Amino acid sequence: MTESKTALVTGANKGIGREIARRLAADGYRVWLGCRDHERGEAAAAELRALGLDVRQLDLDVTSDALCATAAQALARQTDRLDVLVNNAGVALELRARPSEEPVDQIKAIYEVNVFGPIRVTQAFLPLLKASAAARVVMMSSGLGSLGTATDPDSPFYGTNYLGYNSSKSALNGVTVAFAKALGPLGIKVNAACPGYVATDLNGHSGYRTVEQGAEIAVRLATLDAAGPTAGYFNEDGPLPW
Ligand SMILES: NC(=O)c1ccc[n+]([C@@H]2O[C@H](COP(=O)([O-])OP(=O)(O)OC[C@H]3O[C@@H](n4cnc5c(N)ncnc54)[C@H](OP(=O)(O)O)[C@@H]3O)[C@@H](O)[C@H]2O)c1
Repeated sequence: MTESKTALVTGANKGIGREIARRLAADGYRVWLGCRDHERGEAAAAELRALGLDVRQLDLDVTSDALCATAAQALARQTDRLDVLVNNAGVALELRARPSEEPVDQIKAIYEVNVFGPIRVTQAFLPLLKASAAARVVMMSSGLGSLGTATDPDSPFYGTNYLGYNSSKSALNGVTVAFAKALGPLGIKVNAACPGYVATDLNGHSGYRTVEQGAEIAVRLATLDAAGPTAGYFNEDGPLPW
């Protein structure tokens, strides 16, 4: 159906996801922006198309089984395969420094997007990923999900102890390994990416890195060649401790 390589980036109407989409489209991919808000998604897609890029909007709320299934059906009408899936959509909600004070309802809401979202989306789009000759799946994790870093008193992030957000990314790392092991025999590589501390709406723009810097490792993992790793966890400088 399409000669171009194809990619889907979730949570791509802004922030790091939008930049990953822009980079992949600039590399020649036909890119769908998976967005939960149709208008915001259309606006972002129109901006990228104005740059001459092959970008389309796809309605996709990662918290809904039904909407993920509908989105996968909609995409299957537009392409016969998916070469790249970037599970980028994520939320932090209200970051709280004290685990004893974080409501379980908030933690559940974070997990719905950050953990169950990537599981749901990967499962829903698996038929299209399997139809690619060499699909790549990137899970947008965080260095804050590293248990190695969290327990290292010398780490600059040792004191950044957000129960819901950090543990959601630790769980996502486990999800990454599980899918990598299951999909490896199909030629599908699955890796987790840490973008660093990037100035976006997620953190009230307190990050010190740009979205261009934050997108770099996800783009690299999305475009790995056959010799590239799978079941790994990386920032742009190399592997991270789980
Ligand atoms: N910024 C950092 O320093 C940093 C560090 C480590 C990891 N990360 C990770 O990087 C990813 C991107 O974050 P960002 O910093 O670019 O944040 P952002 O600017 O807030 O973007 C988050 C994106 O996720 C979307 N999203 C949220 N809930 C969704 C849902 N239910 N269904 C579909 N899309 C949904 C948002 O859509 P709406 O516009 O509709 O809300 C938005 O497009 C996240 O997974 C985050 O955890 C960020």
